[in-house]
Amino acid sequence: MSLPLPDRCNVLIAGSGGREHALAWKLKQSPRLGRLWVDPAANAGLRALGTACPQGLEPRNRFHLERFLEKEDIRLVVVGPETLLEQSIVDDLHKPPHRLVFGPTRAGARLEWDKAWCKQVLRTANVPTAESRTFNHQQLDAALHYVRSRTDPAVVKASGLCAGKGVVVCDTPAQAETAVRDMLEKRAQGDAGLQIVVEERLRGQEISVLALVDGGTIWMLDACQDHKQVGEGDTGPNTGGMGAYCPTPLATDSVLRFVEREVMVPTVDALRREGIDYRGVLYAGLMLTHSGPKVLEFNCRFGDPETQALMARWKGDLLEALWHTAAGTLDEATIGFTPGASCCVVVCAHGYPGAPRTGDLIEGIGLAEAGATGADRVLCFHAGTRAADGGGVVTAGGRVLGVTAVGADLRSARDAATDAARRISFPGAFLRGDIGMRVLAPVVS
Ligand code: AMP
Ligand code: GLY
Repeated sequence: MSLPLPDRCNVLIAGSGGREHALAWKLKQSPRLGRLWVDPAANAGLRALGTACPQGLEPRNRFHLERFLEKEDIRLVVVGPETLLEQSIVDDLHKPPHRLVFGPTRAGARLEWDKAWCKQVLRTANVPTAESRTFNHQQLDAALHYVRSRTDPAVVKASGLCAGKGVVVCDTPAQAETAVRDMLEKRAQGDAGLQIVVEERLRGQEISVLALVDGGTIWMLDACQDHKQVGEGDTGPNTGGMGAYCPTPLATDSVLRFVEREVMVPTVDALRREGIDYRGVLYAGLMLTHSGPKVLEFNCRFGDPETQALMARWKGDLLEALWHTAAGTLDEATIGFTPGASCCVVVCAHGYPGAPRTGDLIEGIGLAEAGATGADRVLCFHAGTRAADGGGVVTAGGRVLGVTAVGADLRSARDAATDAARRISFPGAFLRGDIGMRVLAPVVS
């Protein structure tokens, strides 16, 4: 049954960060958007675009949240973060034909919240991925024996959700042993690490390929790359993401064709065989190895900061695309990207990725957006910000703003985004000036 997009569609965006601000910014351009509601914890940028939902989104409040959605005639809920997917927000609130929720059910999102299960799906579907073994907390000795006996470096992963902190990439067996003990014995990742995946360490460049999936149809978006490490030259600890760009020149036509045919299609088919009608974003984190692209992980949501780069170039009505994805009629949507490239540079607060300093007044946002030298435009997407009581915007998290520029090519987009991001000021602000360096100046290894 086809579910037409309402003429005035009231929407709630669930999630409070940079990804959600970028989605909200694009949704605001839809002629079909009615009232936009934002998360109760929304940052200052989101709050400037919509009205804060008075109801919490957590599982224990779903009864009241649903009453609220009915009262306000909210027809579409767009889910940003994986935690809400794991907490069954789609199962609870997706009530077609009246109300759709964009995102997979808890069963579909298991690809992200249970890495051990994900590896099993990949294996049965014959999707290329790193070789791996899974161990639980009662198998500590077996896990230790396994990492000691390996001749090549291993990667140790907590199976559950750890906000990007559950992966230890090891150089030596001794490091792998420590990682195994930390997770299985010392419970460093809590329950998320009660089961671990130990896998071969892959070498190559990493890309992020996101696709919209409506249960059957798969629509591949332009591929992105992000920089996870805090320091220039990809050094230092991992973060939620210091910057991203789109498209990446590494995602050639043949790479994209391979990923669609060998990764996306067999995964969606395998899920269907499990009785899962997967709808939402399927995000494959891939390593481009000597023997072809291999899956590092699946995420079941838009990436952050990839979404900031994607939305800056999104052509067409995002509301229509998200509605049709959730409705199972993706072939009725028109999706495209403007030519050129986009680049998002994240401005961070002192202390990030440890404990960031917060509460500092942010200056220069207008200046950054106005100063698009060499670029088509610059957008400042808020992440960790809060509207101050006395006016103005203050820092409220580690990643503060995602300054995003669109240009004729990656270099001009990167230079413009970096230049604009440097106009933002607050005490201890820092950024990476080398976003894109892996493809702009390839490092020979
Ligand atoms: P994940 O949360 O699985 O994406 O892992 C976080 C990061 O760890 C990835 O973005 C990679 O940089 C790295 N990583 C994960 N798995 C592997 C692997 N098998 N080989 C090398 N690096 C990996
Ligand atoms: N940029 C990585 C992620 O969203 O998980």
